[in-house]
Amino acid sequence: MSIPADALHAAAQQHGTPLYAYDAAELDASVARVRTAFGNARVYYAMKANPNLSILRRLHTQDVGFECVSAGEIARAAHVGATGENLIVNGPAKSPAEYALGAQLGATFIIDREEEVALLPPASRALIRVNPALNVSTHDHLATGAADSKFGVTPEQAPRIISALRAAGHTALGLHVHIGSAIRDAHDFTAAFARLNDLRPHTGPLPVLDTGGGWGIGADLPGIAREAHAAAATFGAQLWVEPGRSLVATAGTLLTRVVGTKTTGRPFALLDAGMTELLRPMLYGAQHPVTPLWQRESTSQWDLAGPACESGDLLGRNVTLPTPHPGDLLAIHEAGAYGAAMSSNYLTRPRPPELLWERSQWTVIRQRETPQDIWRAEESGE
Ligand code: LLP
Repeated sequence: MSIPADALHAAAQQHGTPLYAYDAAELDASVARVRTAFGNARVYYAMKANPNLSILRRLHTQDVGFECVSAGEIARAAHVGATGENLIVNGPAKSPAEYALGAQLGATFIIDREEEVALLPPASRALIRVNPALNVSTHDHLATGAADSKFGVTPEQAPRIISALRAAGHTALGLHVHIGSAIRDAHDFTAAFARLNDLRPHTGPLPVLDTGGGWGIGADLPGIAREAHAAAATFGAQLWVEPGRSLVATAGTLLTRVVGTKTTGRPFALLDAGMTELLRPMLYGAQHPVTPLWQRESTSQWDLAGPACESGDLLGRNVTLPTPHPGDLLAIHEAGAYGAAMSSNYLTRPRPPELLWERSQWTVIRQRETPQDIWRAEESGE
């Protein structure tokens, strides 16, 4: 994130806080980092990380496809012009509408259970999600490849599903694996790919291997890419990947103002943003780096508390800051992924605006909500 501090001050002044600020140059750099590491792999953006239409359009023009997990996400992809080869429809409990919409657009489906073979629209293209039964180094809520997680089919089921797909007139494109999110240890990926390689004698060659996403910030992308390409080569397959966080996280900052301070058993800096704008610290214990946009001589440690009436509404603990005063601006980094996307209207808090910084200018890419926006659907007879 390289938005100058004076631009952040100007955005806060003009649009109020809290707000999400995205750096277009860093978005483009993130795409370039993935492309450089993964070479000719086909990239499908997991739009759950940040489904803002401006971001989707930007990625679509850079030939990035989309991984969608709801009818709403499929509709977003269609809205920005993505079809066919550019779409993957995934999810453990797909609805009839999701199959229908996906089929209409020519998407590839990811099969998450054996029964789905019978639910697929005629002549579908399908990948089979394999659960490698691995414990990986991430928060429990973010691990998706463990034996007791709800995702995927067992390695033993996969060859049978391939035969069933072919018998039903579908195309079995290949295997899919996604072991979780925010994973920094490349060995976790190596272990998952090894499970796939073990399946090769039972499946024969397949045209595609999709190794999902899940790469944590700072993970060794070239190392993961090498292993993923090697696994794909085993199947004679083209590599597909589905990054979410790595394409958008570092481009985004949540900008919040200090409302005041107080000391109970601990010293708190009270902010105008909290769990409703960035749920990750509360939900996963995530630690987001922060930059204070003020200077004062004495520094000390503060807990960062949001405005919600919940004790867990904290955005950081023991954060070293110059003494905060009301009105000071704090930048909370790595908020481009799963920040706005997981924001809520809890406490009838309108969602903040989203702004894009490009060529030294701000563009509003989502307006601030109003309380009326929130209760509109509750009013009858309108
Ligand atoms: N592919 C599949 C099948 C997925 O389920 C996901 C994320 C991705 C790709 C993208 O993963 P990424 O590259 O972004 O790690 N809300 C959590 C993250 C949940 C991710 C769910 N699936 C968070 O704030 O960390």
